[in-house]
Amino acid sequence: MARRKFIVGTNFKMNGSRAFLQDLVENLNRADLDSNVGNEEVHPIFISPPSLYIEHVRQNLRKDIAVGGQNCFWKSSGAFTGEISAEMLKDVGADYVILGHTERRTLFKESDTDIGLKVVHALQTGLKVIACIGETLSERESNTTLQVLFRQLQAIIDHVQNLDLNQEEKWKDLVIAYEPVWAIGTGRVAAPEQAQEVHAAIRRRVGEICGLEVAETVRIIYGGSVNLGNALQLARERDVDGLFVGGASLRPEFVQIYMGAG
Ligand code: G3P
Repeated sequence: MARRKFIVGTNFKMNGSRAFLQDLVENLNRADLDSNVGNEEVHPIFISPPSLYIEHVRQNLRKDIAVGGQNCFWKSSGAFTGEISAEMLKDVGADYVILGHTERRTLFKESDTDIGLKVVHALQTGLKVIACIGETLSERESNTTLQVLFRQLQAIIDHVQNLDLNQEEKWKDLVIAYEPVWAIGTGRVAAPEQAQEVHAAIRRRVGEICGLEVAETVRIIYGGSVNLGNALQLARERDVDGLFVGGASLRPEFVQIYMGAG
């Protein structure tokens, strides 16, 4: 079987300004990326600025780097004050969207069902979706990591499996991001073998519910304190199909993470 396409994505969260992002875009535009990096068929990469800046970033950024949103609602339009839709993200040039990030789940009280609904709507709109799952420290310490992850995963799978498409079409634009909550923004990265163990368990679970072919092709990426010092080791693990970078994506080292980890 062909190697799953390694994907590196970033999440700027609620950081940056027009001037900051312009500098970052220029830095990326100047970067001498390997020819495979940014090739959507081999090694896609994307950056996710706050939604207000997506259009500006898209217009100024080199075209081999995709742009994504950090959230969107599960309706196309209507009386949903403060929300943006998947269609709007597409309209301003986004190709990706992050859904179910732990900050959305905890700070904005998004439920597993909300996230399932958002995932299918975004997929139907033609966005590529990074669907996040992750356990807290207390869940890990009480040995409920897989129980929590499988519950979050199940809600996503239930909605995706309901789509009126064949298995390949349902899953081709969906990437699962494993982001242990205890590793996000803490500097405490999961050890490569810890990440591998969980990624393999997620893949097995996908296989049990959706079949072996989906399990073998779905990409599962790792996020949580990824930096230049740990990216390569994590990327070497068999079931780690990409990296999802928060804090380090705002520093110059992110260009090397793109280059080194594929
Ligand atoms: O979505 C990626 C993010 O949650 C990871 O953040 O700062 O730990 O790399 P960070």
